Amino acid sequence: MDFDRVVRRRRMVRNYDPDRPVPAEVVRRLLEYAVHAPSAGFSQGWGFLVLSEPGDRARFWAATTPPGSGVPDSWLAGMTRAPLIIVPHSNREVYLDRYAAPDKGWTDRDEARWPVPYWHIDAGFASLLMLLGAVDAGLGACFFGIPPASTATYRQAFGVPEEYVPIGAITIGYPAPDRRSPSLRRGRRGVDEVVHRGRWGDTLV
Ligand SMILES: Cc1cc2nc3c(=O)[nH]c(=O)nc-3n(C[C@H](O)[C@H](O)[C@H](O)COP(=O)(O)O)c2cc1C
Repeated sequence: MDFDRVVRRRRMVRNYDPDRPVPAEVVRRLLEYAVHAPSAGFSQGWGFLVLSEPGDRARFWAATTPPGSGVPDSWLAGMTRAPLIIVPHSNREVYLDRYAAPDKGWTDRDEARWPVPYWHIDAGFASLLMLLGAVDAGLGACFFGIPPASTATYRQAFGVPEEYVPIGAITIGYPAPDRRSPSLRRGRRGVDEVVHRGRWGDTLV
C-alpha cells in the first residue's frame, strides 16, 4: 500500500474477527519492522512478547485487567477477540550500559544526562512501525496501556525480567466493526495549530 494511504488509514481498531488468525509470516514481518526502528546509540534495548495461543492471551487479559480494574466490558469484549497481542518492552539498563561505552563516555550512568527516556521512545518507534505494518497488511491494531498496578502480575504471568518495562501492548487482527473512540470527539489538531515557524507563537503562513 502507498505510504500516504497507510499513514492516513491508520487508526486504533478495538474489535477483531476472532476466527481469522494473523498468518505467521505477517507476524514475522511486523516484528522485522519493529527491529528496523531507530534507536539511540543503536542500543536496541527493547524486547517483544508475542502472544497468539488462546491460553496465553487469556492469561494476558486476566493479568492486566483484573475484576474492578474499571475497564469497560465493551472495550474488553472487542479487544479480547484479537488473535494476536504483541507487548513491546523497554530496557533502561541497556541504554545506560551502551552510553557508558568509550564512544559515548557517560560512565557515571547518570540518568539526568538523558533529555527524555530514550529507552521508551525507541520502543514507541518500534510500536508505531508495527501499527503501520498492520495497516499495510490489511490488519487492524490498537496500542493501549497496561495499568501500573498490573505490571507485577503481568511480569509474573510471563516470566518477564524486572529490567524490562512493558510500555503498552498492541492487539492485532483482522478488523471487525467497532465503536468510534469518544476521544476522537476532541478532533485532530491541525498543522496550523501545532506548528510554530521561526519563533514559538508564529504560525505557518
Ligand atoms: C501512548 C498511547 C496510549 C494509549 N492508550 C490507550 C488505551 O489504554 N486504550 C485505548 O483504547 N486506546 C489507547 N490509545 C489509543 C488512542 O486513544 C488513540 O490513538 C487516539 O484516540 C487517536 O485515535 P486513532 O489512533 O484511532 O487515530 C493509546 C494511544 C497511545 C499513543
